[in-house]
Amino acid sequence: MESFPRAKSPCPWRHSLSGMLVQLLLAVCFFSYLRVSKDSPARSPGTPATTSVPTTPKVSTGPASTVGSPAHPPLLILLWTWPFHTPVALSRCSEMLPGTADCQLTANRSLYPQADAVIVHHREVSSWPKAQLPPNLRPPGQRWVWFSMESPSHCQQLPAMDGYFNLTMSYRSDSDIFTPYGWLELGPGLPVEAQVNLSAKTELVAWVVSNWRANSARVQYFQKLQAHLHVDVFGGGHKPLPRDTMLERLTRYKFYLAFENSVHPDYITEKLWRNALQASAVPVVLGPSRRNYERFLPPDAFIHVNDFPSPRHLAQHLQALDRDHARYLSYFRWRQTLQPHTSSWALAFCKACRRLQQDHRYQTVPSIASWFT
Ligand SMILES: *[C@@H]1O[C@H](CO)[C@@H](O)[C@H](O)[C@H]1NC(C)=O
Ligand SMILES: *[C@@H]1O[C@H](CO)[C@@H](O)[C@H](O)[C@H]1NC(C)=O
Ligand SMILES: *[C@@H]1O[C@H](CO)[C@@H](O)[C@H](O)[C@H]1NC(C)=O
Repeated sequence: MESFPRAKSPCPWRHSLSGMLVQLLLAVCFFSYLRVSKDSPARSPGTPATTSVPTTPKVSTGPASTVGSPAHPPLLILLWTWPFHTPVALSRCSEMLPGTADCQLTANRSLYPQADAVIVHHREVSSWPKAQLPPNLRPPGQRWVWFSMESPSHCQQLPAMDGYFNLTMSYRSDSDIFTPYGWLELGPGLPVEAQVNLSAKTELVAWVVSNWRANSARVQYFQKLQAHLHVDVFGGGHKPLPRDTMLERLTRYKFYLAFENSVHPDYITEKLWRNALQASAVPVVLGPSRRNYERFLPPDAFIHVNDFPSPRHLAQHLQALDRDHARYLSYFRWRQTLQPHTSSWALAFCKACRRLQQDHRYQTVPSIASWFT
């Protein structure tokens, strides 16, 4: 199981809450961060100007064709490229998302003329879109899905995508197919002491950074923070950290700097969901606003750099928490009822499978570029 995005280590994942449970939570207006775990959130203002016109469904679901006729053949979904050219093991969607009928997922382009839908991962079509996009003579009814887990800062040639696509698929919660890096589920209530072993947390702050750019916001913040507090830095040019021992190593730290490479709405990645939360390290986040994080996480699950007037004040806060065990442990209280999960490519493809079966309306996204910002 490959986890997002380009991860090389197996990563645990679980299928999402049953739709019914989510509906129930919605009904009682539970926390807003659970609300967004629903997979087809209502579009909010400022989201892509998708034109939807209900028309005759391509795959007829009316009684005439279902009564007395064999089951529909599974939807054929073509992955135009493997993300980052790396094949992943695909799972049966009926197992991954119970209640979903299986799709036939393939990366074999010879099946393009028969494909009901084509998932186009942005990265591999972005250096020369005219040549790299699927042929524009598309079979009638075939839907194209634009897919990216990278932020707009790392997506070249977005305007070249305009006018081709029918659905969007990304970490943004207003995507047609919402594929977050991670999410919370109601879980068995474990006491805080069982969630975190304080005597094993012998180190203070860790950061894993692969793409070090001296002029980036995160590196500049880090440098100011480091003047007041020791941070162990791993990855490219720093301390080595093999992927297979990464989580085990990070578990020894009380805090993890989940600093995103760029700041965009909903762009909250595996830095938070895996590196920090799976390692039971309290995330110190730099990314979108605290309000944006609170759509996905309880307010006391993370520390936001914007909570402090300066890196020095943040350093003082972390040092105070290091001395005050009860206060440190208060950052784990939410885990008595909620548990973090991380996603995978295979799960994202199954979410597409589910969504593409649910609704066959005519729909087009006029401009990816004006929405994906
Ligand atoms: C791709 O599909 C075509 C048509 O079904 C088939 O002939 C070919 O063997 C397939 N290629 C691979 C690599 O599976
Ligand atoms: C907690 O960590 C300490 C130090 O690594 C270890 O000796 C102890 O067995 C751990 N306790 C539990 C309950 O895992
Ligand atoms: C998909 O989008 C394209 C481009 O806008 C459009 O021509 C086509 O009719 C749409 N197809 C469906 C099934 O919505």
